[in-house]
Amino acid sequence: MASALVVQGLSKSFGALRAVENVSLDVAPNQVHSLIGPNGAGKTTAFNCISGFLRPDVGRIWLNGQEVTRWPPHRLASAGMARTFQITKIFSELSVLENVALAARSRDGRNLQMWRRANHCAAKEQAEEVLRTLALSARTDSSAGQLAHGEKRVLEIGIALALRPAVLLLDEPTAGMSSRESEHIAALIRKLSSRVSVLLVEHDMEIVLGISDVVTVMTQGRIIASGSPAQITRDPEVQAAYLGTAEPEFVS
Ligand SMILES: Nc1ncnc2c1ncn2[C@@H]1O[C@H](COP(=O)(O)OP(=O)(O)O)[C@@H](O)[C@H]1O
Ligand SMILES: [Mg+2]
Repeated sequence: MASALVVQGLSKSFGALRAVENVSLDVAPNQVHSLIGPNGAGKTTAFNCISGFLRPDVGRIWLNGQEVTRWPPHRLASAGMARTFQITKIFSELSVLENVALAARSRDGRNLQMWRRANHCAAKEQAEEVLRTLALSARTDSSAGQLAHGEKRVLEIGIALALRPAVLLLDEPTAGMSSRESEHIAALIRKLSSRVSVLLVEHDMEIVLGISDVVTVMTQGRIIASGSPAQITRDPEVQAAYLGTAEPEFVS
């Protein structure tokens, strides 16, 4: 089956700093593919280049077989790439359902006036379905501003899902969460892969090991390993990067 997302030879420098160097990824349909690495590894820079928020210096990107290199974010979104925007994109005064329904409607935004009413109902149904998937139904009518931090992060994912993307990009969705909330969101991400391919950017190795099909590890802008969680945990270079293992040649 064709890849959902292919990234080939992506590089991005900030002045003399090579934040991302020759990064290639291949995300298969309905897989959770995690991009992990210590802080400063270049994960967010790669994420922003892939989602069109930063211009890569070099590199090419394909979404569902279509080349989308240098496409702006809104065009990528209509082609099926959704990303979360952290809490800033949530309308606090609106209900949880309204937030998700607005996103569902924006997807069908170019329809004719006469279809508006029908769309409105369809968007509400889609939003309800998204909330069920995310186990947020109990919060349907709560105003988004009243949600707990963890629930807001789940709502962000719901807003992205309402766009019915082929690929969902998540940058550290568990940041600032308790370990219980993190486990909950990790389980949700695993569940989402039945309907969408997920590129998950994380620095916490433990979170990704249990839910990923493929893990790609970056340090200092470069990929040092890519494979199944089992392969990754056995990889000596990954172990060194994560555990700070002393280099064997210095042990006399
Ligand atoms: N806009 C920017 N301008 C200059 N340097 C940046 C910018 N964004 C990130 N960097 C630098 O690029 C490197 C990679 O950062 P980042 O992609 O945020 O890493 P990660 O997400 O893996 O923690 C870091 O050294 C960071 O300081
Ligand atoms: Mg980051």
